[in-house]
Amino acid sequence: MKSTAEIIVVTNRKGGTGKTTTSVNIAAEFAAQGQRVLLIDMDTQGHCAVGLDVTPAKDAPTVHSLFLSAGALLADAVYPTAWPNLSLVPANPLFEHGSGRGDSTRLTRALHDEGLKEQYDLIVIDSPPSFDDLLMNSLCAARKVLVPFVPHHLSGEGIRNLARILFRVASDSNPDLKLLALLPIMLDRRIGQHRSVTDGVARQFGNGRLLSGVRTDIKLAESFAHRQPVRSYMPGCRGAEDYALVALEISERLASLAPLAGD
Ligand SMILES: Nc1ncnc2c1ncn2[C@@H]1O[C@H](COP(=O)(O)OP(=O)(O)OP(=O)(O)O)[C@@H](O)[C@H]1O
Ligand SMILES: [Mg+2]
Repeated sequence: MKSTAEIIVVTNRKGGTGKTTTSVNIAAEFAAQGQRVLLIDMDTQGHCAVGLDVTPAKDAPTVHSLFLSAGALLADAVYPTAWPNLSLVPANPLFEHGSGRGDSTRLTRALHDEGLKEQYDLIVIDSPPSFDDLLMNSLCAARKVLVPFVPHHLSGEGIRNLARILFRVASDSNPDLKLLALLPIMLDRRIGQHRSVTDGVARQFGNGRLLSGVRTDIKLAESFAHRQPVRSYMPGCRGAEDYALVALEISERLASLAPLAGD
């Protein structure tokens, strides 16, 4: 049997919780380990292309072409990057949210019909901070959900709302969807509020689902300005160390969720 890619959507409806930083840097970590990785940028802000130094030609196909033209192919929108094993499907910054015509399975069908799942070991989907067709397409196409969150007091409520949406998508249209892990971003365990919010999340979703977290590191922001993943921009910095550990923890979680051979 041909192997098929694991598909992880990185999502949180709240803006600025580290979705894009996490998507780019875990994609780079897994690619550096030799896995064939495809990062898909569903967010029209288009920041993944900046983080991986990809400049799509004007009018070139993007992931959003799928929602504009019935015959569009996702494979036409795949760009190699300067990092071995790491490819990107960029976003179209001019795509108008809401023009997806109510089809939440367009991305799922493209990945399946074009055989892309067999060409990669891991597909990472960076999702927009909106509740629209683009988010629904991201959730329907994925098998695992990774939720980065900033541990402030309103985060818990946001994560619970997101969990309700995930449950609905899983029961209505994507029974394969599973909550992989929650990832505290800009975490400082010396701050009482950070500890109480992360402890609350661990209690609610299970200790095993809470990853160790990413500390605040300006190098993570700078690496985007320098158009490269943090592991290349500043190896050994806090952000690079933390994302290396996040990738390790994700591998362990994936292994623990995988069905046993013969199932
Ligand atoms: N651990 C961190 N330390 C310092 N800055 C960070 C960290 N993680 C993310 N940032 C910065 O926080 C900002 C928001 O991060 P990012 O763009 O990854 O969030 P996002 O959830 O994708 O946002 P949006 O919802 O707008 O898509 C960026 O300027 C980024 O550089
Ligand atoms: Mg983003």
